[in-house]
Amino acid sequence: MHPTRTLLFTGPPGVGKTMAARWLARELERPLLVLDLAAVMSSFLGRTGSNLRHVLDYAKSTECVLLLDELDALAKRRDDRGEVGELKRLVTVLLQEVDDWPASGLLVAATNHAELLDPAVWRRFEMSIEFSLPDVPQIERLSLALLAPYFADADTWSKVLAYALKGRSHNDIERDIMQARRAAVTSGSPLPDQLRTLVRANAGLTHAEKVELARILYHSEITSQRVAREITGVARDTIRKPEKKNEPVPSEEVA
Ligand SMILES: Nc1ncnc2c1ncn2[C@@H]1O[C@H](COP(=O)(O)OP(=O)(O)OP(=O)(O)O)[C@@H](O)[C@H]1O
Ligand SMILES: [Mg+2]
Repeated sequence: MHPTRTLLFTGPPGVGKTMAARWLARELERPLLVLDLAAVMSSFLGRTGSNLRHVLDYAKSTECVLLLDELDALAKRRDDRGEVGELKRLVTVLLQEVDDWPASGLLVAATNHAELLDPAVWRRFEMSIEFSLPDVPQIERLSLALLAPYFADADTWSKVLAYALKGRSHNDIERDIMQARRAAVTSGSPLPDQLRTLVRANAGLTHAEKVELARILYHSEITSQRVAREITGVARDTIRKPEKKNEPVPSEEVA
């Protein structure tokens, strides 16, 4: 049995596809070669076929991890209208290479437009891994990692941010938290002020989520009751009240 030689990473932007390829290369103690197909395509269309072959030949001759980033730039459906013959030839080149990839190396391709890929391309890869947006516990862990070294209240704030930043990518979450830390340093204001601004800016929550967020805020020391109410729109009394029976449930709660 050979180890897996070819991997396909799919998923939305900023969820760790490129990062995972870097991590793999480090774990395997191999150099990582990156070919950004979107960049290659736009600047060298016409010579891309021979350039691509050079890169693939070089990568095959060394024990490395080759990352073909933005694969969709190349591997669009072959029946795409308006697609030129050049693209078709490139796809053919690539498909042959994926089939013949040596077991001494690892070929990783990444795309955030999996739906654009030709089924023939999908099939060629030995393994396909879907990366998704972080769920609430994952956001909490990411926020904690970014805040804990600098901040005593990191535990509680991570729980709050996990709700407030739901639906965002790891990349966005990291950027926003770093921005809040930067703003705290440059303006000399406390970090919680910046984090409250961040939570307010991301209040796209369902009613049930707002109540849950309010519960965390009212039971923690990180905001005053007034601020907890302002952020969530939920009064302290509301979360204390037992559910009334026979009351129509707001539609967003049903969902
Ligand atoms: N799972 C994760 N855990 C922690 N941080 C992450 C994770 N995913 C992404 N990040 C952060 O976001 C940055 C960007 O991620 P990365 O470049 O890997 O995204 P991507 O999935 O390749 O996006 P794109 O499709 O736009 O190329 C990383 O450098 C890292 O700081
Ligand atoms: Mg990437």
